[in-house]
Amino acid sequence: MIGRTVQFSRLAVHPAVRRRGIATALLEAAETEGTEAGARRLVLHAQTYARALYEHAGYRARGSLFREAGIEHVAMEKELP
Ligand SMILES: CC(C)(COP(=O)(O)OP(=O)(O)OC[C@H]1O[C@@H](n2cnc3c(N)ncnc32)[C@H](O)[C@@H]1OP(=O)(O)O)[C@@H](O)C(=O)NCCC(=O)NCCS
Repeated sequence: MIGRTVQFSRLAVHPAVRRRGIATALLEAAETEGTEAGARRLVLHAQTYARALYEHAGYRARGSLFREAGIEHVAMEKELP
């Protein structure tokens, strides 16, 4: 956490159990933990194929697409109440 902003880095779910809401639950848990720590804003770099995951969790894309480790990404953020 820097100031009141939390940055998430890596998120992965075992291939055998994907599309069952596990990543969504992990995002919710991280949000709860961040809120309890006093965060007001969550930010992350999403692989563009996974953008819907974060949009469903309330994140908005910000800025242009960019490449990180050779993979297309977009910055996303969510303000906390
Ligand atoms: C991305 C990842 C973490 C998603 O985990 P998950 O537990 O399957 O995600 P959820 O079940 O919570 O998905 C919630 C929603 O996100 C979207 N979503 C998830 N995986 C998606 C995919 N591969 N393609 C498109 N949309 C996807 C869907 O809208 C999904 O809702 P639906 O299943 O009702 O359609 C998982 O596919 C993964 O580990 N991928 C490899 C590592 C990686 O790319 N990490 C993300 C880096 S940004």
